[in-house]
Amino acid sequence: MSELFSQIFPASEWGDLEIRQQLGQGSFSQVYLAHRIGQPYAVKIVNPSAFRHREEVRVKFRKEAAYLAILDNPGIVKVFHVGEHRGKLYIISEYVDGPSLATLLSTHTKFPEETLVFYARAIALALATAHERFVIHRDIKPTNILINSHGEIKLIDFGFGFRQAGYADPAKQLVEFPDRVVGTLRYCAPEQTLMLKRPIDGRTDLYALGVVLFECASGIPPFQSSEVSELLRMHAVLPPPSLRAADHTHCARRWADSLRTRRGCWAGWPASADARRWR
Ligand SMILES: Nc1ncnc2c1ncn2[C@@H]1O[C@H](COP(=O)(O)OP(=O)(O)O)[C@@H](O)[C@H]1O
Ligand SMILES: [Mg+2]
Repeated sequence: MSELFSQIFPASEWGDLEIRQQLGQGSFSQVYLAHRIGQPYAVKIVNPSAFRHREEVRVKFRKEAAYLAILDNPGIVKVFHVGEHRGKLYIISEYVDGPSLATLLSTHTKFPEETLVFYARAIALALATAHERFVIHRDIKPTNILINSHGEIKLIDFGFGFRQAGYADPAKQLVEFPDRVVGTLRYCAPEQTLMLKRPIDGRTDLYALGVVLFECASGIPPFQSSEVSELLRMHAVLPPPSLRAADHTHCARRWADSLRTRRGCWAGWPASADARRWR
């Protein structure tokens, strides 16, 4: 595929962007690798009119673009341009030239402690930037965490992003979103699946991060069930299984503890934190 972007979006000032190949296919959008003046970019395109709930898709996509645009952190993909042409919406962002955590998990099963701490810290700092702006990601999972060729993490996909500001009153949030469950259940905090009557906030993402790190440390997620209701129940009432059996997981145990007590504040990690400090 060597289509010029101008053939799709002729009005765009990014018209000389050349689409090379498809990188991914989401439920609402396609993501392509594109080049312009020797630089690679990722282009996410959605055509809301292809969907029954087109207005909802449009709002979701615009919100995703807005959240990405206001968040400036090396661990979050940078957005260069957001536009709309003939009903199609697009986001041009930084291209991440490496696999997702999900791909790495499928080949590595367990991560070495140093790698795990490095990723954990980078994701936590990226989330701290989002949470400072009252943006909750709501879909932290291995497929939404990419690792570039320099080994740096990049958080993508704020499609389920949620702006906490304006919903400071927990009761109001619960009333306005009484039955909206979004996210990926294997990683979802109980308040996100409505198993717990508590408003969604930054800790909701930290819970999902805890689940991701548990999986990276042990090779399996803390809770698994083919029954949705059982999976939700496990997240709501069970403590995470022990990681003690694994020999390299002292710090992972600490994460699991913070996941259990929900007291941990990842944003407070010292900049110099390294593997030794967390033993
Ligand atoms: N900036 C990017 N760089 C490289 N690949 C990307 C980028 N953004 C998305 N992708 C690829 O496209 C896939 C779908 O993108 P995502 O934003 O997660 O869409 P969806 O909202 O449909 O899940 C990702 O899993 C990833 O493989
Ligand atoms: Mg995604």
